[in-house]
Amino acid sequence: MPSTDPQRPDGPGPERSAPRRSLVTGGAGFIGSHLVRALLARGDAVTVVDDLSTGRQANVPEHASLRFVRSDLGEALAGVLRAEAFEEVYHLAAAVGVQLVMDRPIESIRTNVLQTDTLLRFVAERCPDARVLIASSSEVYGKSERTPFREDDDLVLGPTSKARWSYACSKAIDEHLALAYADRSGMRVVVARFFNTVGPGQLGQYGMVLPRFVADALAGRELTVHGDGSQSRCFCDVRDVVVAVEGLLAPANIERTRGRVFNIGADTLITIADLARLVIRTLASTSGVRHVAYEQVFGQRFEDLHRRQPDLTRIGQAIGWKPTIDLARTIRDLARTMGWIGGGADGVDVVVSAALSPAAREPLP
Ligand SMILES: NC(=O)c1ccc[n+]([C@@H]2O[C@H](COP(=O)([O-])OP(=O)(O)OC[C@H]3O[C@@H](n4cnc5c(N)ncnc54)[C@H](O)[C@@H]3O)[C@@H](O)[C@H]2O)c1
Repeated sequence: MPSTDPQRPDGPGPERSAPRRSLVTGGAGFIGSHLVRALLARGDAVTVVDDLSTGRQANVPEHASLRFVRSDLGEALAGVLRAEAFEEVYHLAAAVGVQLVMDRPIESIRTNVLQTDTLLRFVAERCPDARVLIASSSEVYGKSERTPFREDDDLVLGPTSKARWSYACSKAIDEHLALAYADRSGMRVVVARFFNTVGPGQLGQYGMVLPRFVADALAGRELTVHGDGSQSRCFCDVRDVVVAVEGLLAPANIERTRGRVFNIGADTLITIADLARLVIRTLASTSGVRHVAYEQVFGQRFEDLHRRQPDLTRIGQAIGWKPTIDLARTIRDLARTMGWIGGGADGVDVVVSAALSPAAREPLP
């Protein structure tokens, strides 16, 4: 039975006799852990497989309907899960982020390509009727200069001598595989191209810009902007992203979404220099901003992209989704998960970091 929330068309439904069995690969990661909580909240029996390579045990909630398999995905599918079947499969496990892929290219390529192949084969053999979501990335648009990016645009990738493109290539192969399964075996698989996803619980250690800025602002350290900061991005709150992800696999929507690629992200552009200023202003931090050349951080073989903005027409038409959470709120909520208790809608007015200015005690707009 449909839920009453138009953006959540697949509520638990009183007539379901058994809970829906859902598999979340990478469920101890940033997006996965938010998704797992949403699936548990709607009553699913959730299995999480995660090797904790970038995820965290603390992200996995204690819950009677949750089973956590701490394992490499391929090993879990061939071992402890080999006789299981699922109704919904969310494949989020991957080597994520440009920095990680540049640091460990061989392992990253293998993880992103081989695990997806294994997962799709498992679904085809064990639960061919499952609804499956494969996580891809806006990175696949590469150097395309179109704005905004539409799902059927050409992909414009750089040379294989530049390691940063291996992430985009690996995700593009995942997409081809998923679409081939949809085409050849009728698998109900959907590809989600995530643009920058941000929000509570995110860590900056793998090069993600917003949590890095927030952590520095809270500590009173300078925020480091790569290049001149004129490169622009769109940042979407993970809580909005989870609603989109659930919606794409909802039984009420799957006939419109299967075998297709969807952009998921916010479509409001902000330059990285402006993002740094917004973080400082929102958290009333005393931090300054410094600029560092790309080559100094990533080496000579790095290439960055000037702007990345999704066209959201397709997902809007298919499931009626659009982002709802503004960036200042995301920054405040992310800061709170890092220990900051600032002024805000809840009226709490305590500053835990000595580095924050007296202005931080003023309620935020
Ligand atoms: N966060 C973003 O802005 C963003 C943007 C584009 C695409 N994506 C995609 O979304 C998905 C989730 O990203 P995230 O931001 O939550 O990253 P994350 O690193 O927090 O999550 C990935 C999870 O996969 C797990 N993992 C990695 N290799 C594994 C393996 N072989 N077996 C089992 N588990 C494994 C990690 O431990 C981690 O918990 C990824 O596929 C990523 O490529 C994310």
